[in-house]
Amino acid sequence: MKKNQLNELLYQALETELGGVEVYTIALRCVRNQELKQEWQEYLDQTRVHVRIMQQLMEAMGLDLDTETPGRKVVRHTGESLVGAMELALAEGEPVAAELVAAECVVLAETKDHLNWELIGEAAENASAKVAELLKTAHEQVEEEEDEHVYHTKGWTRELWIKSLGMQAALPPPEEVKDVKTAIGAERAKQARTEML
Ligand SMILES: [Fe+2]
Ligand SMILES: [Fe+2]
Repeated sequence: MKKNQLNELLYQALETELGGVEVYTIALRCVRNQELKQEWQEYLDQTRVHVRIMQQLMEAMGLDLDTETPGRKVVRHTGESLVGAMELALAEGEPVAAELVAAECVVLAETKDHLNWELIGEAAENASAKVAELLKTAHEQVEEEEDEHVYHTKGWTRELWIKSLGMQAALPPPEEVKDVKTAIGAERAKQARTEML
């Protein structure tokens, strides 16, 4: 495994988690559905813990947390853009629209977050024993929460959009009700939405 690229992944993952805190903080100002608000508050708390887990992992690997990398810069830019998109939506003064924008922004942020941790899990399978142990320990603490963040929020986004279109929505979404934690589970839940209506 290429050590430099593994370090790059970790810097991007740290930056993603830091940006995630900012994304959830403003998304919570956009959300209207009380159940989703509770979910996101929980995800915000979990994301703060993920920041600490990443920092501890990187320190244990001897990495300077403040090192800037080109990829990290791009991740930060994306996070700031998502925050900017939600600020713009709030300024437009359309609460339903702002909630949809926030849901989409959370899905985009969590898609990257989920990918990072999936790759950290893959890297743990191939790294040298000491590094593998560190990666695995961090991955085990975070993985399941990341599944929930992305799959459940995708469901919320789809159903809130459907509601905004004036169609019958399955709220809370089947992904939430069925406590989905896998991609295949998310697809099954989506297919079951008509039965739930
Ligand atoms: Fe995270
Ligand atoms: Fe996440």
